[in-house]
This record gives sequence, structure tokens and C-alpha cells, in this order.
Amino acid sequence: MNDTFLKACRGEKVDYTPVWFMRQAGRYLPEYQAIRSHIDFLTLCKNPKFAAEVTIQPVDILGVDAAILFSDILIPVEAMGMHLEFSEKEGPVLSEPVRNKAAVEKLIIPDVEEDLPFVLETIRILRKELENKVPLIGFSGAPFTLATYMIEGGSSKNYLNTKKMMYQNSGAFRYLMEKLSDVVTSYLSSQIDAGAQAVQIFDSWAGILAPSDYRTFALPYVKKIIYDVKKGGVPVIYFANNCAGILKEVKKCGADIIGIDWRIDLGDAIKKVGKKIVVQGNLDPCALFLPREKLEERAREILWKGETAKGHIFNLGHGILPQTPVENVIALVEAVHALGRNNAD
Ligand code: CP3
Repeated sequence: MNDTFLKACRGEKVDYTPVWFMRQAGRYLPEYQAIRSHIDFLTLCKNPKFAAEVTIQPVDILGVDAAILFSDILIPVEAMGMHLEFSEKEGPVLSEPVRNKAAVEKLIIPDVEEDLPFVLETIRILRKELENKVPLIGFSGAPFTLATYMIEGGSSKNYLNTKKMMYQNSGAFRYLMEKLSDVVTSYLSSQIDAGAQAVQIFDSWAGILAPSDYRTFALPYVKKIIYDVKKGGVPVIYFANNCAGILKEVKKCGADIIGIDWRIDLGDAIKKVGKKIVVQGNLDPCALFLPREKLEERAREILWKGETAKGHIFNLGHGILPQTPVENVIALVEAVHALGRNNAD
């Protein structure tokens, strides 16, 4: 198996910088669209055979150094008792948003084996099918990001309902965060037991918080989850999107690897997180629309800056956009592998 990704996660010496992409499976791939044309997104997530197939697509097509489980961060939220739908226009929609203590009280803490068996089955299938290929990353949303969807009922512009609950009803907010922390911990631990070789926690909306609110209302829960999940013995990656303003806090989360978005220079981010943490990132997903030489230039700069960290895993600063030309993604993987090899010499 190509274990370059796992070695980099542990901060060990590697022959080249490994690369994978957030949202590497998805609508920009015609092979994904072919499957999606006869199965809706949620059904796809819950069908282990098809979910495994779309997980492997980017490994074969792009040549990336890791696979990420095909699912969605909102799958466990549905298992907590909320009604989830994905609308073509609005993205995820959760009916009856959670806005008070009674609503939090009603939420179920799912039994992962019983209520989310398809996720674990997908992982088991994938471990067999990926045996001679690349490691498998499991994932979960972070409590704060999951809470925003549950409180807003979907995506949001200002996250006003979330902040109102945080400020005006902090008891209910904390109760929700505690419940979510229990769910995320058991969800990730079960994924590790089923065979996930690393896990990533997505905190996509952490960057909407003022640093002091992040420190009070989000970080303590992430820290506790990471502490508990680390007992599973696999590397833990924490990705907080829009992290520049909170990196000093993010650094304290206890993760082995910190994912960095593109809005901060990677060299500056490394200076902030220090030499004890591996970093992952951080090319702007829109750079995949640059002419080839410019794209390579950007990749070279990131690889070069990554050299100053304890270890570096190349990734985008957020997910691949659906409009992205596949050939540019393939070219980027080739460039990272070739340039990273030079850097290792
Ligand atoms: O390839 C991979 O990265 C694995 C699969 C994956 C998906 N979602 C598939 C998906 C992962 C890791 C996620 C995580 C996820 N989901 C996050 C965190 C990462 C991030 O982007 O910040 C969030 C916030 C969600 C919630 C979500 N799911 C939204 C807002 C949307 C709609 C908008 C969009 O980007 O499509 C989804 C749908 C979704 N999740 C799709 C895929 C492939 C598109 C569904 C389709 O086929 O129509």
C-alpha cells in the first residue's frame, strides 16, 4: 500500500509530499454524475456498494495518495432525529430547526452500529478494495459546524440564529454541543474500529466566530473529542475553514494535523501553529482554473513553504468546486508528486 500519506501524518520523512483533496469525490467527475443520474445523494450515501465505488473514483482517476469516505457531515444529524433533505438550489435543508432546550432534549444519541451501519459497512468494503492502493480517511463534522446546520435549518449568511442561541440561551446551546460531542466521538471511534486509517474533523463554519467565542463555545468541545478519538490510535486531522483569525486558538485543539484554508499564507500559518504539528493545505480551489504554468507555480510555492513544517500534506484550502475541469486536477496531482520529489532530494 502507498503509505506516504500516513507517514506524513506522523511527521515521518517521505519521498514526496502526499496529496488528496477535500470533496475529491463529487459532481466535477463525470463518473460520479453517471452514478448520481440514477440515485439521489442521500440514497447514495446510504448504499455501501455505490458509496465505496464513488470513494474509489478519485483514487483511480486522479492518482491521489488517500481516499476519503463518501458520505456527508449531516448523515449523523439525520440519525439524531432531524428530517434531512438536499435541495438542488439550497443544499442541505433540516426541517424544524433546533432553537431551544426542549428541541435539544428531543435529539437522539444514535448507536452507530445500529443506526448508521451503512457507514461502517462502506468502510469495511473500502478497506478490502483499497488494500493495495491508498489509506482511507474517515470523517465527521465538528460540533459547532453541525450545530449551525441544526439551528439555522440549513446554510446561512450571518448565522444569526446560532449566535442568538449562543448569547441568549447558552445553557441550551451548550447542551446541544455536549450531545453533538458525544455523537461525534462515538461516530469517529466506530469508523476507526471499522478500519478508517485517519480521521478528519470538518469545522467548516468555525471561522464565522470571533476568537473569544471560538475559544468559549467551540474549541473546548473539539479538544475533548480529539483527546478521546486519539485513543483509537490513528492520526486526527482538524480542518477549521477561514482559520486565520483563530489559528492561535485552533493550535490548541490537540490534533496531529491541522488543515489550513487558502486565505492565509501557508508559511505564516506554520509560524503560528509551530513545529510540532503537521499541516495540510492550502491551495485556493479556484486556482484550478488558472493556466497550467500558473497553477504549477502556486503548487510549487505551497510545497516550498510546507517544507518548514513538521510535515505537510498537500490539499486545497476547501473543497473542489463542481465546475472544476478534471484534467486540471489530474495535472495538479502530477505536479505535486513531481515537485514534491524534488523538494525531498
Ligand atoms: O469527497 C469527499 O470529500 C467526501 C464526501 C463529502 C461530501 N460532503 C459529499 C457531498 C464530504 C467530506 C462532505 C463534507 C461536508 N458536507 C461538509 C464539510 C466540508 C465543507 O465543504 O465545508 C459540509 C459543510 C457538508 C454539507 C453539505 N453537503 C453541503 C453544504 C452540500 C451542498 C453544497 C455542495 O457543495 O454540494 C452538500 C452536498 C454534498 N456533499 C455533495 C457531495 C458530493 C453534492 C451532492 C450531489 O451530488 O448533488
